[in-house]
Amino acid sequence: MKTVNVGILGLGTVGAGTAETLLKQGPLMEARTGIPLVLKKAADLDLGRDFGFEIPKEILTTDAQEVINDPDIQIVVELIGGTGIAKKLVLDALAAKKSVVTANKALLAEHGTELMAAAEANGVDLFFEAAVAGGIPIIKALREGLVANPITRICGIMNGTCNYILTRMEREGIDFEVVLKEAQELGYAEAEPSLDVDGWDTAHKAVILSQIAFGVPLNLEDVPVDGIRGIDPEDVKNAKELGYRIKLLAMLDQSEKGYSVGVQPVLIPMDHMLSNVHMSFNAVLVDGEVVDETLYYGRGAGRLPTASAVVADIVDAARDLSGDAHARIPLSWNANPAPAWIPPEERLERSYLRLFLKNAPGSLAKVAEKLGSYGISITSLVQHENDEEGGFVPVVIVTHVATVGAIQSALADLAEMPHLVEPRMVRYRLEELNS
Ligand code: NDP
Ligand code: HSE
Repeated sequence: MKTVNVGILGLGTVGAGTAETLLKQGPLMEARTGIPLVLKKAADLDLGRDFGFEIPKEILTTDAQEVINDPDIQIVVELIGGTGIAKKLVLDALAAKKSVVTANKALLAEHGTELMAAAEANGVDLFFEAAVAGGIPIIKALREGLVANPITRICGIMNGTCNYILTRMEREGIDFEVVLKEAQELGYAEAEPSLDVDGWDTAHKAVILSQIAFGVPLNLEDVPVDGIRGIDPEDVKNAKELGYRIKLLAMLDQSEKGYSVGVQPVLIPMDHMLSNVHMSFNAVLVDGEVVDETLYYGRGAGRLPTASAVVADIVDAARDLSGDAHARIPLSWNANPAPAWIPPEERLERSYLRLFLKNAPGSLAKVAEKLGSYGISITSLVQHENDEEGGFVPVVIVTHVATVGAIQSALADLAEMPHLVEPRMVRYRLEELNS
């Protein structure tokens, strides 16, 4: 079969891992696919850096356009990241009729529709397996393995950095900032790590999955997003006492009423499989109407796990080129009639609340009454013995399902009663994750 030439833009964590995998696993992949893949050129701004393996000097350049304009290169791999120069380079490559592979979730979440249209107009592929859940082939699973399934739920731990931080904090009680620094050193974190810890990286991935699963263009601004920065060790401890663990989840749901997408820390049962996904591992639970529940697990970040997904896309694009097939794997970006969007405040959720109540007769009853006035009923309540007469003491309340709007209104009302409740209140979603 004819050789397929590949060019890489960006030789950072993922780019260097991809180059290394292409060079080291080339013979294996050729044996499996019959297609010789050649890394023809690779661009990075800093060529003096240690790439972690021996890369032939003659293929290196500091000029990304040199890679795109090389007439022998058929597949361009964008691993620079961000929505600035990366967007221009991807559009340039597509316009030059090169297939593009990227791991750039921010770019796809914000400009996916435009990029897909450019790929379609130029008759080339745009693949992005590594953009969601690192080394887990979740995009392929949704597009191919589950193609017959209307998707009813996706629930995923999809940020390696956050899961690494939460695991270390829970297991070793290590300080947030210290663990974040370690996640950066391990190559898990984004160049701007607030994207990870404030939930935006997970939201980018949720928007991409929502596009594929529900076929609807979704604005990032419409997704309620909360990260892990504010998680207090006290809530981790309380959750454990109640039999739950806190994980940062992307939750995508679809029913006959419509669909909803959100990213937030959620209390999930300690014995659920997702609770036992630790460190930089990710896991994505997908419910399909035909198949029922499925679960995908693996490394969600890091040099080689991510390279595994990037190279799988390169092989897919090479297969299309070798078979003269365009869009063998359907784009499925805006494929379906659009379901209705359920606004966040109309979503039905159970809640974990931590309030500080006045240690005085009747205060608990008044809080229960306030929640009740919004139709919110309490399933359990924990208050540890405290003899600090007249002070404010922590009380943990778990509720039945109620709309998020009702909970927000009840908490806003309570905040107006400072004689009874301190304004610092904690609320997390709680999910049993029943199938
Ligand atoms: P890095 O910051 O490690 O790598 C990006 C590289 O691109 C850097 O070496 C940078 O050089 C280089 N670069 C910047 N501008 C240019 C340019 N104009 N031309 C050529 N090279 C350039 O990022 P990662 O490898 O971690 O991430 C890359 C992409 O993969 C991002 O979209 C990220 O979200 C995604 N991703 C990352 C994962 C991970 O585990 N790290 C996992 C899944 C996806 P310099 O440093 O000198 O600016
Ligand atoms: N920063 C991301 C994470 C990289 O920690 O999951 C993988 O997308």
